[in-house]
Amino acid sequence: MIKKGIILAGGTGTRLSPLTKAVNKQLLPIYDKPLIFYPLSILMLANIKNILMIVNPGQIENFKSLLGDGKRFGIKIQYKIQKKPKGLADAFILGKNFIKKDNVALILGDNFFYGQSLTDKLEKSLTHTVGSRIFLKNVKTPENFGVAKIINNKIKKIIEKPKKFISNYAITGLYFFDNKVIDYAKKLKPSKRGEIEITDILNIYKNSGNLHYEHIGRGAIWSDAGKIEDMTNISSFVQSVEKVQSIKIACLEEISLSKKWINKKTILKNINFYGNCDYGNYLKKL
Ligand code: G1P
Repeated sequence: MIKKGIILAGGTGTRLSPLTKAVNKQLLPIYDKPLIFYPLSILMLANIKNILMIVNPGQIENFKSLLGDGKRFGIKIQYKIQKKPKGLADAFILGKNFIKKDNVALILGDNFFYGQSLTDKLEKSLTHTVGSRIFLKNVKTPENFGVAKIINNKIKKIIEKPKKFISNYAITGLYFFDNKVIDYAKKLKPSKRGEIEITDILNIYKNSGNLHYEHIGRGAIWSDAGKIEDMTNISSFVQSVEKVQSIKIACLEEISLSKKWINKKTILKNINFYGNCDYGNYLKKL
């Protein structure tokens, strides 16, 4: 069972500059809440309560004033600074004292997932204890992502941002790993873009026959928020769903209350914390 999760919320967000000059990308708004709420909600939906947040130097106080130590959501959040963006695989080196001997999930702080079918898949996947598990989504522009080629229900190839077409299956920014991931990460050499790549780790798992996958499927949505256009698209999506259905996506307190990790008293405290706003008023209805 995976009980620990890392959220990688570092990176310079250069493609979003000047928005990201003073504030981390993951703290920018997606409709009515900061981007970071969405990946955090996915870990919480997967029943992961022990979380390490990896952030840029100088941003830790901003994250802390928003999320604190996680108690407000009935979870535990610790922070670790990533001095330089060395690549996604660096999360396991920075996080080794947090992971210890356990298995771990990694979610990228700029990834947006939504869909009921996804939650069911996550819960099932968490019980696997050997190897790695990734989540694939059919996309129009695979050249922008890590990509997996599947033959006879097996992963045959993993390539980071392939220049030549190999498949439409993008590797989304949610990964489950057994404890070997720490050793694998330590052995990696930087790629041409100067980063230690998550896809190199996935290739090690693949070559030992221990890389598994799930399709996110048509019933669920995935997008990363790398470009301005992605941010506005996801924002409009969240706005439409919330308006039409009168629910909130990624309301952390709602998830926590449904899992009985917090009680109504904590919700009241959180209403005070947010003040008079749409999100706070939604909490009143809970
Ligand atoms: C990273 C990974 C890539 C993955 C993507 C998902 O890309 O390297 O394999 O498909 O996240 O968001 P990057 O955001 O570094 O371009």
